[in-house]
Amino acid sequence: MNDINVYHTIFQKYLTENTFSQQPVELYEPVNYILSLGGKRLRPLLVLMGCELFDNDLNKAMAAAMAVEIFHNFTLLHDDIMDAAPLRRGQPTVHQKYGINTGILSGDVMMIHAYRFLEQGTDPKIMPRLLQIFNKMAIEVCEGQQYDMVFENRKDVTIEQYIRMIELKTSVLIAAAFQMGALIGGSTEEVAEHLYEFGRNVGIAFQIQDDILDTFGDPEKFGKKVGGDIIQNKKTFLVLKSHELGNATQLNDLQAFMNTTTENEEEKIKAVRYIFEAVGVRAAAEAEMNNYLKIAFQHIEETPLSMEKKIYLKSFANDLMMRQT
Ligand code: IPE
Ligand code: IPE
Ligand code: MG
Ligand code: MG
Ligand code: MG
Repeated sequence: MNDINVYHTIFQKYLTENTFSQQPVELYEPVNYILSLGGKRLRPLLVLMGCELFDNDLNKAMAAAMAVEIFHNFTLLHDDIMDAAPLRRGQPTVHQKYGINTGILSGDVMMIHAYRFLEQGTDPKIMPRLLQIFNKMAIEVCEGQQYDMVFENRKDVTIEQYIRMIELKTSVLIAAAFQMGALIGGSTEEVAEHLYEFGRNVGIAFQIQDDILDTFGDPEKFGKKVGGDIIQNKKTFLVLKSHELGNATQLNDLQAFMNTTTENEEEKIKAVRYIFEAVGVRAAAEAEMNNYLKIAFQHIEETPLSMEKKIYLKSFANDLMMRQT
């Protein structure tokens, strides 16, 4: 297996070679803008790593890697409109910079180009199977995004419902990326299923961590507006676990703040963060991340991969859990 930076460099090169130069420029400039802002490139890396577990020829997997990264960035364009987010990767969001209509349409065209990369760039023998995986995933992401919005206005969301929501909105894409890479590399369906489950559980931990960073992250590093979830009344793990762990006063205060649409956003963020700290919910969230990581590792153990590859995957996941962006 390669050092993670190697996959990063290979993907970045492919991305640059495939910059969108079509017309109209008003449609494609925002696409190039969001793709050029970087990010961790987690999903394409998983496609490439998934492939390399079984086959060193990464060229086979480049188009699928591109498809998942473009799809991911499409979801970000629309997600940032839905979440009224001003910042992404340390820069203005697409709708903030170019307007909401552009955010919608450039997002739409990205989704279709994602399919086109799959259609034109993958082995025709495996393409129908990849499309099957991709379609299931894409529908689930929309379902998860809808639950995410519905939950903003509900007070009775359970942790179980929350986990299902983040599984849909976030982890199925991470899971599918890894599964697709493995199948491109020549994995059996059975092993690819374990790798999907690895990705699904890592993805759940990844989104719980995203919730933590959204409230406790370093604004200099995070790249998104810290406190955005609090302003949007998102039912994050921090909110729901506080319902379990907090005392009556803390819960009253939390409820009061979550019901207000305040003029002073920073005050609301500070107050809710203070309640989370008093409740000690951050440690509980980190413990939950670890639970999902353990399940993910069990799935790695179920595969016939070499010890070296198993260790590589586990250390990749462990490193991911230390991220600050
Ligand atoms: C952001 O994904 C959306 C979530 C699922 C939390 P990433 O945290 O992978 O964003 P980038 O691509 O690295 O910017
Ligand atoms: C991300 O959820 C899910 C998708 C983009 C599909 P968030 O709304 O938490 O993602 P960020 O925090 O804006 O990146
Ligand atoms: Mg968002
Ligand atoms: Mg969102
Ligand atoms: Mg978030």
